[in-house]
Amino acid sequence: MKSTLFRLSLSLLTLTFTTSVLSAETCDIDLAKKVYGICAACHGQPDTENPPLGPSLKGLFGRESGTLSGFIYSVAMEKAEITWDEDSLNTYLEAPMTVVSGTSMAFAGIRDEHQRKNLICWLANFEQRKQDSTN
Ligand code: HEC
Repeated sequence: MKSTLFRLSLSLLTLTFTTSVLSAETCDIDLAKKVYGICAACHGQPDTENPPLGPSLKGLFGRESGTLSGFIYSVAMEKAEITWDEDSLNTYLEAPMTVVSGTSMAFAGIRDEHQRKNLICWLANFEQRKQDSTN
């Protein structure tokens, strides 16, 4: 009985652990950059002010969806009212066109959770890392 409970709590722990977002120290930067290559075609680099197709991802974390001034969003994105953070990005990037039905972001999504989490981890720490590397 005891060991069953122990095993149960262990598996719960693993579950919590794998669903939490990776910290800066543990994100796989090489993998993230590879995955970001798809985004870059439209968004440029994460700090590009005026990307070729999509809105700038600069200052993305904490921003509400569809609110960057100067970019013409779809009505769907303007109405989505998502605050961009690790969790909401994880949901959105898995299936953008389903999560925000009617979005003009013509991208099927990243099915692989490991790739998504590392991408988000890298994005979340992009500004900080840039500051660190110029210091
Ligand atoms: C084919 C071009 C294209 C690709 C590829 C693409 N995006 Fe987008 N993205 C857009 C467009 C266009 C919008 C605006 C969507 C709208 O208004 O409905 C957008 C919107 C977004 C938003 C919402 C931003 C805001 O200001 O609310 C996020 C976040 C985002 N993209 C992240 C990504 C990431 C991360 C990737 C790569 C995994 C990616 N996108 C790939 C074109 C693209």
